[in-house]
Amino acid sequence: MVNSTREVRMVKKVLAVHFSQTGQAAALLENIVRPLREQADVALTCVRLEVTPPFPFPWPFWRFLDTFPETVHLDPPPLASLPLAGDENFDLIILAYPVWFLSPPPPLTAFLRHPLARAVLRGRAVVTATACRNMWVMAQQTVKQLLLETGARHLDHVALVDRGHALATFITTPRWVLTGRKDAFWGLPAAGVAEEDLRDAGRFGVALLQGLRRNDEKRDTPLLTGLGACKVDTALVASETIGIRSFRIWGRALRALGPPGAPARRALLVFYMLFLLAVIVTVVPLSMLLRRALTPLMGARLERTRQSYEAPSGSGVERLGHDHG
Ligand SMILES: Cc1cc2nc3c(=O)[nH]c(=O)nc-3n(C[C@H](O)[C@H](O)[C@H](O)COP(=O)(O)O)c2cc1C
Repeated sequence: MVNSTREVRMVKKVLAVHFSQTGQAAALLENIVRPLREQADVALTCVRLEVTPPFPFPWPFWRFLDTFPETVHLDPPPLASLPLAGDENFDLIILAYPVWFLSPPPPLTAFLRHPLARAVLRGRAVVTATACRNMWVMAQQTVKQLLLETGARHLDHVALVDRGHALATFITTPRWVLTGRKDAFWGLPAAGVAEEDLRDAGRFGVALLQGLRRNDEKRDTPLLTGLGACKVDTALVASETIGIRSFRIWGRALRALGPPGAPARRALLVFYMLFLLAVIVTVVPLSMLLRRALTPLMGARLERTRQSYEAPSGSGVERLGHDHG
């Protein structure tokens, strides 16, 4: 293929896959792939994931809660369709997703476990991207593990979060997913990742295009370092670790009582809700106080935790404002 500078370049095949309910993960992916679109040396294939039956939006309250056991136990409904043959040889695969209950959303789990997707992912360079409230670390650990099981080569992760304070988003995010309303109210900010942050994700696409043109995706090194790809808030990691453990334990008990919607599950869900509320108003403030007191003693350990969860792309910003080359 000959491009405008008359250089001869190989056409790079890129697969962009996403699941999104309200469009945030979709917008993130669209902004990442925009620089790759309409390039003579890039062939882009886009796949939107959906399961059958589809999840509702906005969410009825009990349906929302009753979805966590299967989500955290990686037991998704089947994909509605998957327009892949399994023998495509993509140079780069980009996966964009929202976080659900500190886990990958079921449609992404279904994709990562689908035989065709596994065949397509094996040995391929993969970039993951998430747009969520603020807790993406445990979900991404799970996604990394699922990718490892497919034999994919995970090169980078981008994480965009709601800029609102954790206490504000604790109200604005549930309001959004349960009512569909994300506007600012009562002095609280609008819910979701800021439009500007989604738009700025174009920088990752520019860097991916440059990397592909240099065949960098063939090496096992990240392409998006220095671009502020993901920043771990160590203050939230402890809550995430406890949260996912609690979801898994209670999720197992709930699943033992029947499938989603079973009346016995509803009774235990009510109990778990009350338990969670009690934990949130007692244990969480106590653990925050304790953490504040211990932070000076744990500096080096927290730094190691941050770096390991931010791997491979990291939170460095040294390439921002440059041409991303
Ligand atoms: C069922 C459900 C569970 C969620 N759980 C989390 C979570 O654990 N952590 C988080 O940061 N955001 C969570 N969110 C917010 C989503 O990550 C995301 O911001 C929101 O669903 C919008 O994404 P979309 O526009 O791509 O659908 C959750 C949303 C839903 C619907």
